[in-house]
Amino acid sequence: REAHLTIDPAFRVAPVRRRTFGTFVEHLGRCVYTGIYEPGHPSADADGFRRDVLDLTRELGVSTVRYPGGNFVSGYRWEDGVGPREQRPRRLDLAWHSTETNEIGVDEFVAWCRKAGVEPMMAVNLGTRGIAEAVDLLEYCNHPSGTALSDQRVANGAKEPHGIRMWCLGNEMDGFWQTGHKTAREYGRLANETARAMRMVDPDLELVACGSSGSSMPTFGAWEAEVLEHTYDVVDFVSCHAYYEEKDGDLGSFLACSTDMEYFIRSVVATADHVGAKLKSRKRIDISFDEWNIWYLSRHQAAEPPRDWPVAPPLLEDHYHLADAVAFGGLLITLLRNSDRVTAASLAQLVNVIAPIMTEPGGRAWRQTTFHPFAQASRHASGEVLRVEPVSPSYETAEYGEVPMLHAVATRAEDGGVTVFAVNRSTDGPLSLEIDARALGGVRVTGATTLTDADVYARNTADQPDRVAPRANPDVEHDPLRVLLPPVSWNVIHLG
Ligand code: AHR
Repeated sequence: REAHLTIDPAFRVAPVRRRTFGTFVEHLGRCVYTGIYEPGHPSADADGFRRDVLDLTRELGVSTVRYPGGNFVSGYRWEDGVGPREQRPRRLDLAWHSTETNEIGVDEFVAWCRKAGVEPMMAVNLGTRGIAEAVDLLEYCNHPSGTALSDQRVANGAKEPHGIRMWCLGNEMDGFWQTGHKTAREYGRLANETARAMRMVDPDLELVACGSSGSSMPTFGAWEAEVLEHTYDVVDFVSCHAYYEEKDGDLGSFLACSTDMEYFIRSVVATADHVGAKLKSRKRIDISFDEWNIWYLSRHQAAEPPRDWPVAPPLLEDHYHLADAVAFGGLLITLLRNSDRVTAASLAQLVNVIAPIMTEPGGRAWRQTTFHPFAQASRHASGEVLRVEPVSPSYETAEYGEVPMLHAVATRAEDGGVTVFAVNRSTDGPLSLEIDARALGGVRVTGATTLTDADVYARNTADQPDRVAPRANPDVEHDPLRVLLPPVSWNVIHLG
């Protein structure tokens, strides 16, 4: 089978946004405790942060990290997590039926971000709380000093303001599962008033209004329209959240799940622009795709929540296989292809909880299969995103109808080097990909890797951490430029 794409620097979409490579740390399961933080661990630093996880976070190429939730934030009292540790209360976390010890709070999180070299992105609680607590948290974090709350931060050891720019106005407020779930009108009004008050403290913040928790939500579309009618002037982003899983053994549909993400993005852009037109506004609202991933949600929903309110129980610990990584790579390609309007994104989550990094308490840390597409895209996507006009054989799926086997995008770095990111969704054969790069003038394939495996359900484990990892792709020709993409594979091709 043959596929074809064209690289032309004139097919420019937008700059590559570093914030596309954000992730998410929620107080959920073992993401914080025994994930980023484990004081007794052999690799722990003086602050109790696991150095092995810090190293892997840097290797992953993470730009921003959203915190502290997620569903958790909708019941969170941020004050519980600051000040002397021995005085911090233990609380019931209703979202995950766990006990929160509050050993980690905003000051420690920001300290961890500095070590990891990432930008913190905060969410405020608009479930059980409101305007006052959001403004208090902002003042605590960002005001230099000289007020009760900023001085409290200084007294707690953070002399410099945290300088957090990006703030989420609540989390998934359209979801019935959310503590303090609201209608679009209730949420839109509250988000507007909260944003206005936060901007009185600091007009330069970047604020995210909650969009839909998925494109299959009954309120999808109507929710964004109503929320944005209330908030258009005071927010910069509307959020999208999407999770995908293989259902009933339908691998073909699963590998094409980025089709839904494309539809999701197009619909939200159209809705936001429609509201802008109605309001006669020239302002443009972008998308923060601040939760996306493969998540075997149906397994999680079938499991009983923990009954005895444990501390940091293993929750949502999906172990990803090759097919998951390929579907995941397709989602990354879609985010990049839409860089004109998706200007921020957060992979949910970073460690242990539906995560690219796994750890054993007290033990090893390793890269899941999904680590690799993320790390490669973050490392090699720079400069500008280019459309590639793919021409590809297609196949029939139960969920999305006919879909192309090839899904691809390219980026062009400042030095002119081009990288193609490509997924072969076909389960039964390779794709011979011909690249028309005449517009670049006499380039060659300077390197090509592929992430694939004879067993599409092969996983990495602590004992076999590199079973699924990118390997050099030997099937490359230079005249014409041609690369053979194995079935069910994620591929990175460098031209120069
Ligand atoms: O990422 C896991 C959960 O998924 C988050 O807490 C929530 O926002 C979403 O439903």
